[in-house]
Amino acid sequence: MIYLDNAASTPVRPEVREAMAEALTTTFGNPSSSHAAGRAARALVDRARDQLSEVLNCRPREVVFTGGGSEAENLALRGPLTRLQGRGRHLIVSAVEHEAVLETARDLQHHGYEVTELGVDRFGLVSPESLAAALREDTVLVSVMLANNEVGTVEPVEELVAVTRERSTALFHTDATQALGKLPLDVGRLGVDMLTVSAHKIGGPKGAGALFVRHGTPLDAVVTGGGQERNRRSGTENVPGIVGLGLAAQLAERERESEAIRLGGLAERLRGRIRELVPDAHPTGAPFGRRLPNFCTLAIPGLEGELLLMRLDRAGLCASAGSACASGSQAPSHVLLAMGLPPSLAGAHLRLTLGRGTTEAEVEEAAEIVGREVAQLRTAAAV
Ligand SMILES: Cc1ncc(COP(=O)(O)O)c(C=O)c1O
Repeated sequence: MIYLDNAASTPVRPEVREAMAEALTTTFGNPSSSHAAGRAARALVDRARDQLSEVLNCRPREVVFTGGGSEAENLALRGPLTRLQGRGRHLIVSAVEHEAVLETARDLQHHGYEVTELGVDRFGLVSPESLAAALREDTVLVSVMLANNEVGTVEPVEELVAVTRERSTALFHTDATQALGKLPLDVGRLGVDMLTVSAHKIGGPKGAGALFVRHGTPLDAVVTGGGQERNRRSGTENVPGIVGLGLAAQLAERERESEAIRLGGLAERLRGRIRELVPDAHPTGAPFGRRLPNFCTLAIPGLEGELLLMRLDRAGLCASAGSACASGSQAPSHVLLAMGLPPSLAGAHLRLTLGRGTTEAEVEEAAEIVGREVAQLRTAAAV
């Protein structure tokens, strides 16, 4: 099997698996207990918080562990609103956000909030001008992702934050779920108030994530109860998950620069080779330098996306159409539609995302498989 769907999830790294197994077995105490077993578990949580705060260049107390990226995003969008009610009820999100942001914003709309969805250009980029035009006196929160999960486009977050600061008092959240381990995530440089990460995109476990919350940001818990995570997320901590997230983030950050170069080269090669074999394959997303290094996305005209994916799967290649959530449904992706891709092309969108384990030989073979399956589908359609 060739696995080129690392944007959906990644294999757990052996070092992470080992550290998690240790936390599951030996360090089983409740981190809130004051006895030795509890203190040992607390020490593991503290170490993971230190590891993640180093990657994000923030203070450890600014990290809130959550049950994954989607939960962190719910906390980022819903958490500040009650305290900001006096300032307004207007939110801005981009049209290409992950469903965890978009659906949360839509839910808030049903509860009396007004939401502006910012459009994007054909590369999937949000322009600072469009944000400037959308910001209002009553805007309380802006959420624009750092890197898109369907085409890998990297948004100009620093500039968007600068525009937000110039024109409003709104908080800025960015979804860095796909960016972690691929781009530098220095929250000081980015200037954001909140930032979401998730462990399973970087060789960590599923169901573990975190929200960076800048000191002084108004925030109420969404999950209430025992007051863990400094009253920002209740529930006994998922110690093995947190250990996995901290270690995976530290390891990914150490390898970030060399992996970006290696994966960037492999993704270019994959794209080039597929286009040799399928000359009308149309690259989607932003040009090199404005997209994540591990993304190779193509629209293939005249083909049904699901059918192609099924054939690739049968041939031993795990790929996807875009977001994992959207695959299985025939509806064109909201991201591709926002980028202005015609629905006929959106239907045959292919997302190949490389990871730590991806080799040159796999890339060569994957391109051959794509070329062969596309040709066979087209021949079958012609008779
Ligand atoms: C950009 C982006 N945001 C958020 C999420 C949700 O993260 P999780 O799966 O940890 O809930 C994902 C993963 O699918 C993602 O790719």
